[in-house]
Parts: sequence; structure tokens; C-alpha cells
Amino acid sequence: MPALWDPAEIRRQITSGSIFQNLGPQRSAEIAALSDEELDAGLTAALSRPQLPHLPSGALVRRAVYSAQYAELFTHFDLPSALAVYEPGAGASDSVTVAVEAHSQGRGRYATVNLNRTLRAQFQSKTACLQLDIDIVEDRAEHSQTHFPPNSFDAACFHHAVNDILQTAVSEPRGMDTTTVDWWPNERQMIEWLAEDFAADGLDSRGRPELLQVVSGAVDLVRPGGYLIFDHWTSLSARDGWLPWDLFCDLIPMARRWIATSDLPLTEVELPGADPRWWMALRVGNPIGDS
Ligand SMILES: C[S@@+](CC[C@H](N)C(=O)[O-])C[C@H]1O[C@@H](n2cnc3c(N)ncnc32)[C@H](O)[C@@H]1O
Repeated sequence: MPALWDPAEIRRQITSGSIFQNLGPQRSAEIAALSDEELDAGLTAALSRPQLPHLPSGALVRRAVYSAQYAELFTHFDLPSALAVYEPGAGASDSVTVAVEAHSQGRGRYATVNLNRTLRAQFQSKTACLQLDIDIVEDRAEHSQTHFPPNSFDAACFHHAVNDILQTAVSEPRGMDTTTVDWWPNERQMIEWLAEDFAADGLDSRGRPELLQVVSGAVDLVRPGGYLIFDHWTSLSARDGWLPWDLFCDLIPMARRWIATSDLPLTEVELPGADPRWWMALRVGNPIGDS
């Protein structure tokens, strides 16, 4: 099976293909204004893991690349054209949303269960130009099953979300209200608490239970034969600073170990050419043929 995410195809998707067409007028104009060198550098940085240091065009190209990667995964898994996707903790990130819009040509359904209000408002304004049916629920993703019927989604996408769920889990008990807090100026504190709890007990008492609960909720919401897709990225520019580098390079393997020791009906499937340290796809239902 050919490797996913051929750089030339991703480049085509974000400069003229279905991702470009669904980025909205402002972002597509910004992408169109980039030089070939800026585009190639941004693309190489976004596709590398750990990610090459941020570039001037970084966030623009990076977010479009993630959309192209998720859209390709939806095709790879042969998900329906009018697919339904759930994303816990989207914050202000519309990468998955744009991928759903592109894959479904605006006929799909997308839902997120998210806490932070300011980021939610930014998400709403970014996605206002999309045709998708979008549902944003303000709650902890640990309660996702109370908002949607079982088996009502084709996939759940944990896009750079494992760290956010863990950060929230260690910060709320210390008194930080992550629904109202200004996320970015407070994120360092959250991550420092995360490192502290990781050093204390490997996140066994705070972090692991919450993440497994969110994953368990996603398993209920996604139909048998559907997928839970996880990715994480960490930028090399953070390697020699305060970020707990080894932990942030191990979040997907750690989630994999936790899930493997749970009794959740999930089976990992290989993503051709993807680094399992940064990507993971789990099929809902036990080995293929069961569901
Ligand atoms: C920094 S944002 C961005 C997330 C996005 N996954 C990304 O990195 O592209 C983090 C968001 O995750 C939300 N979040 C974290 N843990 C959550 C939980 N347990 N339930 C719902 N939302 C959560 C936060 O409230 C915040 O809005």
C-alpha cells in the first residue's frame, strides 16, 4: 500500500485542490500569495516530526497541511462521502473541520465537545464560511455520550488533543477554570503541572483516567468499523526550553500503552508511512470481521 501524504499531493491539495477551496477567502488568498520557497519550507516543516522550527508562514501552511492529512485519512479509511466526525477539545483549531468539509463537499456533520469559551468563539468565526452541519457543545469531553447517540459518527479525531485533555485534567483540580481562562498565557503553567504529575506517578491518578474516559466516550459515539484517529506534533524549537520534551514526544505512545491495557474494543491499524510515535489509528470493534 503506498505511503500516505505524498508531499507533492499535499502541496497540490493546499494550493489548488479541495483543501485550498475550503480554506475561506482570506486564508486561500494568503496561501496563494506565498512564494514557492515559503510554501516548500512550510510544507517540509509541517510534515516532519518532531516538527522543524516555526517559519513565518508556519501556522498558515501547517494548519492547511493537517487538513490535507486528515482528508486523505478519511479517503484511506473509505469513510462515507457525507461523513460524520466528532472531535474532542477542538479549541480554535479548524484543521479537522476543513478536512470534513473538503471530504464531504459540505454535506458532512461535525461536532466538538470543548471547554474554553474564547477559543470556541475563535473557532466559530473561522468556521462560519463552511457549509457543514457544525455542533459545538460546551462540556467536558468526558461527558460526550450525554450529548450524542451511540454509533452516530464515522470517526473521532484527536488532533493534537491528548496534551490538551491531560493539561486540563491536572489543572482543574488545582483551581484553574479552563473554561474561562485565557488559554495561551496559562498554557505553560498547565504543562508544568503536567510534568509535575507525570514525575509523581506517571499521570496514573490524574490524566490517565480522564483521557481514557474521553476515549471511551468516543468509542461509544463512533459506529463499529469506524475509527479513532490521533496525532500529536511538537516543534523542535521547544526542545531546549522549559517544555518537558521527552514527555511531549511520547504522548501518542503513552496513550497507546494506556488504551492497550484498557478493555476498550479498539484495534490499531497501520497507517502506511506514518510515524507511530506521532500518529495512531484505532478501529472500533475487535479484529476486522467482528463488526
Ligand atoms: C489549545 S486548544 C486546541 C486544541 C486542538 N486540539 C489543537 O491543538 O489543534 C485546547 C482545547 O481543548 C479543550 N479541552 C481540553 N480538555 C478538554 C476536555 N476534557 N473536554 C473538553 N474540552 C477540552 C480546551 O478547553 C481548549 O479549548
